[in-house]
Amino acid sequence: MTDSLFETAKAAMVKAHAPYSRFPVGAAILTEDGQVHSGCNIEIVSFPEGWCAETSAIAHMVMAGGSRRIAEVAVVAEKLVACSPCGGCRQRLAEFSTPSTRVHLCDVDTGVVETVTMGDLLPHSFATDALSEAGDGR
Ligand code: THU
Repeated sequence: MTDSLFETAKAAMVKAHAPYSRFPVGAAILTEDGQVHSGCNIEIVSFPEGWCAETSAIAHMVMAGGSRRIAEVAVVAEKLVACSPCGGCRQRLAEFSTPSTRVHLCDVDTGVVETVTMGDLLPHSFATDALSEAGDGR
């Protein structure tokens, strides 16, 4: 499954819209119910308004309507061995993950280079029950 998650991330990376950075990134999410969702980075001419591959993949997961519990993530960038999610994406992924959720950092030619956990990537993360009174996660 890890290899196919990498391949899905790589296929997403090819769809990146990254004309400004020329740094295509792809991400793939495996949910606990076995669904796979992917995304690429999308940049716009107002540079700070673009968004990351992981964020696109999360949007696809939510819109698909199935499980929102992330079991595994794969990230790949064309020009970086073992691309690690940026700080903002770590917090976004954490929203739908547990500290033991595995994140595969991949190389475009060889696949998974390193596997870390969300706990590794975002220790002491911001979390509170005070903001989820509804209790249904929505
Ligand atoms: N990027 C991602 O898509 N994911 C990351 O985790 C790191 C950075 C994108 C954002 C921008 O389009 C490009 O890579 C260069 O920063």
